[in-house]
Amino acid sequence: MASMRLFLIFSLLLIFPLVSIKAQQPYIKKLNTNCRVRNASTSVLGYACNGVNRTCEAYLTFRSRPPYNTVTSISNLLNANATQLSQLNSVSETAAFGTGETVLVPTRCSCLGQFYQANATYVIQSGDTPFTIANNTFEGLSTCHAVQVERSNLTIDIYPGSRLTVPLRCACPTENQAADGIRYLLSYLITWGQSVSSISAIFGVNTGVTLAANQLSEQDFTIYPFTTLLVPLSDQPSRSQTIAPPPPPTTSPPPSSPPPPTSSVDNKWIYMLIGVLGGVALTSSIGFAVFWFCFLQKRKQIPPPMVSSASQSFEAIVKPGDKKLDVDEDSDFMESLNSIAQSLKVYKFEELKSATQDFSPNCLIKGSVYKGTINGDLAAIKKMHGDVSKEIQLLNTIHHHNLIRLSGVCFNDSHWYLVFEFAVNGPLSDWIYQDEHEQTTNKSLNWIQRIQIALDVANALDYLHSYTTPPYVYKNLESSNILLDDEFRAKIINFDLARSAEGQAGQFALTRHIVGTRGYMSPEYLENGLVSTKLDVYGLGVLMLEIVTGKHVYELYEKVKKNLSEVLDDVLEVEDTDENQKLTDFVDPFLQGDYPPHLAMSVIRLIDGCLDKDPSARPDMNEVSQSLSRVLTTSQAVDISVTISVQGR
Ligand SMILES: *[C@@H]1O[C@H](CO)[C@@H](O)[C@H](O)[C@H]1NC(C)=O
Ligand SMILES: *[C@@H]1O[C@H](CO)[C@@H](O)[C@H](O)[C@H]1NC(C)=O
Ligand SMILES: *[C@@H]1O[C@H](CO)[C@@H](O)[C@H](O)[C@H]1NC(C)=O
Ligand SMILES: *[C@@H]1O[C@H](CO)[C@@H](O)[C@H](O)[C@H]1NC(C)=O
Ligand SMILES: *[C@@H]1O[C@H](CO)[C@@H](O)[C@H](O)[C@H]1NC(C)=O
Ligand SMILES: *[C@@H]1O[C@H](CO)[C@@H](O)[C@H](O)[C@H]1NC(C)=O
Repeated sequence: MASMRLFLIFSLLLIFPLVSIKAQQPYIKKLNTNCRVRNASTSVLGYACNGVNRTCEAYLTFRSRPPYNTVTSISNLLNANATQLSQLNSVSETAAFGTGETVLVPTRCSCLGQFYQANATYVIQSGDTPFTIANNTFEGLSTCHAVQVERSNLTIDIYPGSRLTVPLRCACPTENQAADGIRYLLSYLITWGQSVSSISAIFGVNTGVTLAANQLSEQDFTIYPFTTLLVPLSDQPSRSQTIAPPPPPTTSPPPSSPPPPTSSVDNKWIYMLIGVLGGVALTSSIGFAVFWFCFLQKRKQIPPPMVSSASQSFEAIVKPGDKKLDVDEDSDFMESLNSIAQSLKVYKFEELKSATQDFSPNCLIKGSVYKGTINGDLAAIKKMHGDVSKEIQLLNTIHHHNLIRLSGVCFNDSHWYLVFEFAVNGPLSDWIYQDEHEQTTNKSLNWIQRIQIALDVANALDYLHSYTTPPYVYKNLESSNILLDDEFRAKIINFDLARSAEGQAGQFALTRHIVGTRGYMSPEYLENGLVSTKLDVYGLGVLMLEIVTGKHVYELYEKVKKNLSEVLDDVLEVEDTDENQKLTDFVDPFLQGDYPPHLAMSVIRLIDGCLDKDPSARPDMNEVSQSLSRVLTTSQAVDISVTISVQGR
């Protein structure tokens, strides 16, 4: 009887969330990199057994890389049937793949305990750790956590040469998915610069469906390289989908022939256009843009995707290329357009004119940025001169909820127009400074909102530092470059100063910047022009200081001789946090009574670390993000009943 009851409780625990959550399997996010933390609720151990069947056919993707670059070696590594693998990829069984090519892998997925897995057998080599096995060898198809579980069951020590079962991440369709005609789930291995919409477009799948399958949403869609994204498929995937760019339909390679030689950039581009005009990719990506816009604007009615703009995209895009770019720039340009057309909407100039009342001063937000209404949704439209392909390219490869989203472009009369999502609450600078509170009394933020904003910024910068290729340093942190959306979540804007972290800082950026936002720049940058990701860490330290004190950095500088961190000295001296008058004096008076003192002290210590004169002594952005995340969680727990101090909402 007792065991029966236990069983019931257990089954309820197991089944209830699966039934109640309509979305399917949680996306793993960055958790795969933190091998010490086990968090089964976010599926680091595998996808939950929530499908109709306990066993099913499934697919994986793998990126060919020596020594795993032939049909045989990949089949062996991933325990796949070589005959089926070669057929699926339309190559012979003896074929080799080019490095970096996406290979489709058929597999059998089955439920073991709570999680689905496909078994691979791996022979341990010296120097292997669970992380390198999962991430480097299996490229993220498994996780260190899952490998660790297998390992802990072994009674003998792991030594090079011993065999280990590596559970690969796979899943079977759920009841909801099966009802929608989904027959397979493909575990797609994400690589640099991809977004949910670009991956969905590869397989001709609706972006919204892919988001739902991974419990992602239009609010939370950031994905990271070397993790898996489930793509729901109604048919077997095929090689014509995975080789980019898709070949023209008339000359698809016959089955069992080696892969076609890689075409030149120009051909690629033409192929791409044909592919795009063919419709699938563009339709779904426009679908996503529309989807995004509508959801952002409180889920108004979704207008039908506009396929007709495909030809428009062709015209608008070809024009500047036809003009006076030299050959080198031309191919760069082509390449950047290649990626633009895959995920951006190209607007007609007339559309933007009517959106902004013919660019009337009434619609001017600031500088050359206009507020417009497109299909009933608000957008920010930025008019730009010159070659903006670099900025467009960067904006088009970053996909993070806290980095402003470029939704479309337009080219007219030698100007580019970039169309961005609109953040209704405007710049952070309107919200945090005390003197501005006095003028606009109802504009202020509570403690939790402030910490959330700092965390958003840290997450976005961590993404730029560690999850884009090449890594970027943002360099332009200041409160006016952070916009707030309707839920007071941060969106970073203005990427024109962002630099690849590998390259050197141009003099241009240096001189220009010292004029602009001196208070935010780190000492090593001001003195030696040194650019590293630690520059942004310093900048975030300054921003957090402003957020906590409600004072502008200039005002804070008035108090100190040299190092900004000196403003913290008084507060940090006091040991007893509960009776810390210095803390009360330090924190924005608007927050009095609203913040937990010991958490405020943690933030102040974090700021102190970020402002360290020695860049190498500063924490990295990932650590900052983790600390803020803890502060936020604890603040929410401490003060659930916090009064919302924002009346303006
Ligand atoms: C596990 O992940 C969930 C969802 O992200 C989170 O709420 C929870 O705090 C995590 N648990 C641990 C122990 O990290
Ligand atoms: C591999 O697949 C082929 C075709 O589906 C099948 O004939 C063959 O028996 C399979 N081989 C193994 C080892 O399962
Ligand atoms: C996968 O391996 C585990 C042992 O690690 C085993 O229990 C399970 O039966 C295997 N699954 C399949 C489908 O072979
Ligand atoms: C994970 O593996 C990839 C190659 O598969 C490598 O490029 C990347 O640097 C690895 N990540 C880490 C954190 O080592
Ligand atoms: C590994 O150990 C866990 C419990 O420690 C057990 O539930 C699981 O079945 C074991 N797996 C294998 C393959 O022995
Ligand atoms: C579940 O298995 C049955 C029998 O093999 C099959 O007919 C059905 O299509 C499967 N359902 C799904 C959703 O895969």
